[in-house]
Amino acid sequence: MTLPSKVRIVEVGPRDGLQNEAMPVSTKVKVELIRRLGAAGLKTIEATSFVSPKWVPQMADSAQVFAAIEKLPDVTYPVLTPNMKGFEAALAAGAKEVAIFGAASEAFSRKNINCSIAESLERFGPIVEAARAADIRCAATFPACSAAPTKARWHRWRSPMWPRSLEMGCHEISLGDTIGTGTPEKTRAMIEAVARRVPLKKIAGHYHDTYGMAAANIYASLQMGIGIFDSSVAGLGGCPYAAGASGNVATEDVVWLLTGLGIDAGIDLDALVDTGVWISAQIKREPASRVARAILARRAMNAAGSA
Ligand code: HMG
Ligand code: MG
Repeated sequence: MTLPSKVRIVEVGPRDGLQNEAMPVSTKVKVELIRRLGAAGLKTIEATSFVSPKWVPQMADSAQVFAAIEKLPDVTYPVLTPNMKGFEAALAAGAKEVAIFGAASEAFSRKNINCSIAESLERFGPIVEAARAADIRCAATFPACSAAPTKARWHRWRSPMWPRSLEMGCHEISLGDTIGTGTPEKTRAMIEAVARRVPLKKIAGHYHDTYGMAAANIYASLQMGIGIFDSSVAGLGGCPYAAGASGNVATEDVVWLLTGLGIDAGIDLDALVDTGVWISAQIKREPASRVARAILARRAMNAAGSA
């Protein structure tokens, strides 16, 4: 079994993590979170989304957040853009990388971006074209890949969206297990089906941890050669249009998994744990990451031992 020697973690905490947060999170806190994540070694940090503030109020300050981030030279800060209005706002804000997003199911597509899958593909074409013209990289991310009765799931996995997104000019596609019902076998089947249509190295995994299976699903994906994963510090998050969905797999858990497999993601785990503690305190929660909790308990034990 050969695992990828390099893995890219896409930190989605500032966007996916905070978008569903009921309590207001200030622009200052969002910007400081992104700064801390960069300092911990994350090289791709999804900063915000240029979406309708009526649909996702927590992301209403996307332009202010993006303007205020201190951009590190070796870090990219992709943003989500569901339509041309969002893309134009992202472009004006100075974004260098964007992601279009729809959904792999008709019902979810309507809930998420208020149109059918076919309409969304029509909408995406000009955005990808405009991104290319402006020398901006564009990824595609599709929620609702995993949860569905078997037949419908197969239908989703065979969707023309995957090859279409790449044909349009997207550089990678991210498969979203939005409500986290995936298991390693289901994840393998999903990747196998999608990889019949698009190259493996263009596929990223975006797994929520609702049922505690996300790390196992990442391991299954690594075994199949997937080398890009979205995760969120402290396991923040959820999706406003997927009831009961908990946060993404925690970045701390992914780093621990990778380290155990001998894969260096270039991230300072202690600094990441501190960042998770800090943002969790800002939103009055405990970090959801089990790895973070274990490290914090060990730190407390060591501190007590040396007292
Ligand atoms: P719509 O209501 O059909 O849009 O929403 P519209 O074009 O009819 O416009 C309605 C109003 O919104 C207008 O304003 C527009 O100007 C404004 P009004 O005239 O009423 O004052 N508007 C915008 N404002 C700011 N930015 C924009 C924008 N577009 C229109 N970009 C729309 C369609 C796509 C806008 C809406 O459905 C939307 O914003 N959806 C975003 C939903 C979202 O952010 N979902 C979460 C992200 S996806 C996710 O979390 C899953 C993921 O993590 C993967 C996984 O977990 O599996 C990626
Ligand atoms: Mg998500």
